[in-house]
Amino acid sequence: MHTEHIFISGASRGLGKAFLETFLTKNPTAQVFGFSRTPGDMEQQMITEQPQWQGRLHISAGDASKEEDIKRLLGEATDFFNAPIDGLILNAGNFLFDENLTDDTSKKALHDLNVRGNTSLVEQTLEQKQDHPLRIVFVSSTASLAEKRGEAFPSSNEYGKTKAEVDAYLRTLHETAEHVHIALLYPGPFGDSAQKIADHPDFGDTWAIDEKLVAEMGVQLFNQLKTEKFAEGIILSEKHFSIEHGFFKKEDLEAQGIMVRFIPEAQSKYLTRKKNENTNELRENKK
Ligand SMILES: NC(=O)c1ccc[n+]([C@@H]2O[C@H](COP(=O)([O-])OP(=O)(O)OC[C@H]3O[C@@H](n4cnc5c(N)ncnc54)[C@H](OP(=O)(O)O)[C@@H]3O)[C@@H](O)[C@H]2O)c1
Repeated sequence: MHTEHIFISGASRGLGKAFLETFLTKNPTAQVFGFSRTPGDMEQQMITEQPQWQGRLHISAGDASKEEDIKRLLGEATDFFNAPIDGLILNAGNFLFDENLTDDTSKKALHDLNVRGNTSLVEQTLEQKQDHPLRIVFVSSTASLAEKRGEAFPSSNEYGKTKAEVDAYLRTLHETAEHVHIALLYPGPFGDSAQKIADHPDFGDTWAIDEKLVAEMGVQLFNQLKTEKFAEGIILSEKHFSIEHGFFKKEDLEAQGIMVRFIPEAQSKYLTRKKNENTNELRENKK
């Protein structure tokens, strides 16, 4: 008997895939449904590698920014679970610098995935089975914390705003809906986006962390929501925290109730600019 039925958006690679694997490994009663636009045959591949996951894992195809896909995917998930959804992991999201958002169409696409896709997923899940307990983990970003402090990171204003908008929506939801428990996860750089940050002149060399560690913290927050109504956590390399984004103070974050997890330097990956054409003045000034 599976006691947790978990739905994960953007599950084919990066953090979403790490979430799938972490739930299946660490929560033995979990059954998970994941989707992305082009998952290929990853379900079969994962089951071939881990045959014990047969029956606990289903992967489908769909676009998290399209209402009709969300509706269909939620139907497929509840058929697979033969039960209502207990957990939503709102992971699918796009990271783009402001200079990539040159027109209304690109801004709308970012908003449709990062904001509208997530709020629609929550609303449609709540419509399915009202009053069924629901735990939600939203993959926000340190860019949202910076935005909320009025000190948005350079070149990622729009991205930070999309994350802050969903954070605010979910905070209100947890205050108004008794059966909904919310966790907000604020990761620092990891995966492909970490290299984009290292290559960008306004950011520069950085320390990336392993997405598996981010997923572990997300699952830890999800498990905490069994007894807590609201939880928040930040996870990033201690080096990244202390040099580039030193304006977050650990004690201030903890005083706000935010769990802080620093990954030691030895477990972080130092990323530097791929092309050695310019020096990184911003980083040199900060050092
Ligand atoms: N990486 C970082 O440094 C960082 C830091 C803080 C927060 N975050 C947040 O963490 C989350 C995951 O980031 P990531 O770096 O793991 O991303 P990623 O490596 O780019 O992977 C994104 C995943 O989402 C799927 N996806 C993208 N667009 C989709 C759509 N429209 N509908 C459904 N699935 C979609 C992708 O698969 P398909 O291409 O098959 O659709 C893929 O499985 C994002 O919300 C991001 O904003 C990332």
